[in-house]
Amino acid sequence: MRIDIITVLPELLKSPFNHSIIKRAKEKKIVEIYLHNLRDFSTNKYKQVDDYQFGGGSGMVLMIEPIFKIIEKLTNERQYDEIIYTTPDGEKLSQKTSNILSSKKNLIILCGHYKGIDHRIREHLITREISIGDYVLTGGELAAAVITDSIVRLIPGAISDETSALSDSFQDNLLAPPVYTRPREFNNWTVPDVLLSGHQKKIDNWREEQSIERTKKLRPDL
Ligand code: ADE
Repeated sequence: MRIDIITVLPELLKSPFNHSIIKRAKEKKIVEIYLHNLRDFSTNKYKQVDDYQFGGGSGMVLMIEPIFKIIEKLTNERQYDEIIYTTPDGEKLSQKTSNILSSKKNLIILCGHYKGIDHRIREHLITREISIGDYVLTGGELAAAVITDSIVRLIPGAISDETSALSDSFQDNLLAPPVYTRPREFNNWTVPDVLLSGHQKKIDNWREEQSIERTKKLRPDL
């Protein structure tokens, strides 16, 4: 998979992709992630990429030309499955969406900033608008990092234990069961006996019950 991220703050996105599972996925060539600085596509000598909004009002809006230029360049080079825009008024990110996106070949993620982007980009170029929750971030970069992380870990081979991503919370609309590791006892706090029983069928049943119970209690909406 290839992910191209368009942003005015590429520095902000370097670190999230240089650790742990995403870093290893890049090393294993499971995913390529490219950061594009929107300023490099500015059509103006001051490298300006934003401007005041027509009709007045506070907040700057990302201009149409630089965004059009970078998207045109990328789409001339290869075909993209989705051109995603991160915005609080988009569809709310879910595990289902991440699963779907993880099977795609080429994705563009455009990070929103300031007051937003010229709406004509949304009307004519964007194929999917995603929010990571009902709150407003300073920009779309952190949302792009969240979306990328949730997609990449689902690509086969990204996580060494293949079943691990499949047993995540939300994969079957259930929260994951609790997990424990050594020591068996700490401060008189013990691990449930069944997990130490060595009886796999009983362990599986217990985990399933826990998942159902936790989902009913914590996320009945699921
Ligand atoms: N940009 C600002 N807030 C956002 C959010 N909640 N989700 C996605 N992009 C955003």
